[in-house]
Amino acid sequence: MVQPCSVEGLCATHAACPGGWSFSAAAGPLPAEVADEVAEACRAWRGGGSILSLPFTAAAYRELQEETESCLRRLLEVPGHFRVLFLHGGATTQFAAVPLNLLGARRGASYVDSGHWSRRAIREAWRYGDVRIAASALERVPDPAGWHIPARAAYCHITTNETADGLQFAELPRLAVPLAADMTSDLLTRRLDFSRLALGYAATQKVIGVPGLTVVIVREDLLGRARPGTPRTFDFSAQAEAASRLATPPVFPVFVAHRMLHRIEREGGVAAMAAAAARRSAAVYRVIDGSGGFYRTAAAPGFRSRVTPCFRLADEALTARFMEEAEAAGLRDLRGHPQVGGIRAGLYPGLPDVAVEALVSFLDDFLRRRG
Ligand SMILES: Cc1ncc(COP(=O)(O)O)c(C=O)c1O
Repeated sequence: MVQPCSVEGLCATHAACPGGWSFSAAAGPLPAEVADEVAEACRAWRGGGSILSLPFTAAAYRELQEETESCLRRLLEVPGHFRVLFLHGGATTQFAAVPLNLLGARRGASYVDSGHWSRRAIREAWRYGDVRIAASALERVPDPAGWHIPARAAYCHITTNETADGLQFAELPRLAVPLAADMTSDLLTRRLDFSRLALGYAATQKVIGVPGLTVVIVREDLLGRARPGTPRTFDFSAQAEAASRLATPPVFPVFVAHRMLHRIEREGGVAAMAAAAARRSAAVYRVIDGSGGFYRTAAAPGFRSRVTPCFRLADEALTARFMEEAEAAGLRDLRGHPQVGGIRAGLYPGLPDVAVEALVSFLDDFLRRRG
């Protein structure tokens, strides 16, 4: 239970939200309506038993997975020559699975270094092949025409939204080699140009549900190239042939993704998610830009994350006070990534507008009182 609000102006918001809101960038909240559906399905689902004990071998699970895939395909307009896989292991497993599946005989790949998560992907890929840095994107993404990608590169990897650093690719680059993208924190928050993409993956705990499921969308012609010795559960072709059921699939996270995807569809689809992300992040950046340097963000305009704005206080010593007051105001989990520091606000689609409004008022208020 959150303590009574100590920040003038936020008590009215508290009345609407006694538990406060989590702005965690690590896991997005489930909207109340979806949380209720999930709670109900844990008791009974579609006239049967609990979703928690649904066997993956049942026809009901196959239907659930097919409906989940169809909804994802409709929302993202995934072309027919891409396969959709529902896998275990988080995005971190894909840091290994991508090189194991895509390097083929070429052995070399290019990666854009854009911050914490791309570096994690790079460090893992090093174990499997000759990894070259195509470009460094720290405050902005340089023009892809100037990226250094050897002709022998099997693919180029990017992280479309750097969750820990707050840098986002404005668009997918058009490259001469297959593009592989970690889209863990911004899948479904904008349209994707599949003519530019060969493989995209996203763990689902931020935008479409709970931990335990990773969605991989891969162009069919890239299947069948896994390096010898690749564990079969990591092999995209083996998983595609087995309809992602080579081992017991993550049934419950697939169910939650099913509910989240259908909710996104009811709310207006990817276009509505993109508009909301632009509007909500703009409200946060407006306070930052108008603060006279009190709040600072590293990413250049045009490359600022619309889902995980990251910023710092010019006087870093005030950060602890900021966190305390934010918590007291019911605004939780605003601490930056442990290895990056600062402040970050996860504005994933499951977070209601009223939470973003409360955050913006708090930022304004803190600036007025401490700036
Ligand atoms: C962009 C990005 N990639 C990868 C990961 C790692 O995901 P997982 O913990 O599911 O392996 C995260 C987690 O925050 C992330 O934000």
